[in-house]
Amino acid sequence: MKVNLRTQINDREIDLEIEPRLLLSDLLREHLNFTGTHVGCSYGVCGACTVIIDGKPARSCLTLAIQANNCSVRTIEGVAASSTFDRVSSAFHQEHGLQCGFCTPGIICSIVALTESGKNIAEEDIDKVVDGHLCRCTGYVNIRKAAKKAVGIYQGDENAR
Ligand code: FES
Ligand code: FES
Repeated sequence: MKVNLRTQINDREIDLEIEPRLLLSDLLREHLNFTGTHVGCSYGVCGACTVIIDGKPARSCLTLAIQANNCSVRTIEGVAASSTFDRVSSAFHQEHGLQCGFCTPGIICSIVALTESGKNIAEEDIDKVVDGHLCRCTGYVNIRKAAKKAVGIYQGDENAR
């Protein structure tokens, strides 16, 4: 039995018959070619597969595609077309917030969702975002600096965490 999925992914209206057990990460990567969504662990730990669903970050490897029915989903490809992305990507560039880049799309989706949430962002919010993502390369210091710069609470203090 298949189910009907109607959703918006980035700027595309999606109307598809899918298997009920299809994961959102597999829909994005294998059916729609949004391969910027990376899959690291497949069980909700690493955060590499993070996308934005209705404004909130979500692990796409733990989300059934059908759970995105009637939602708005943004992957890193959609995020890259937003005005927020320029600031975030520039901060990551300036602070060397990545090495291999495998974890980066997920982290950026989480930071963009936080930035666009409209809340008054504190350092603890950045810590929570970074704590939710595994990076095998950087040691997190520069990711934290980049994330803080992206949200405007860090201007380049070498002693910042
Ligand atoms: S691949 Fe989804 S959390 Fe690791
Ligand atoms: S930059 Fe390589 S895993 Fe994070």
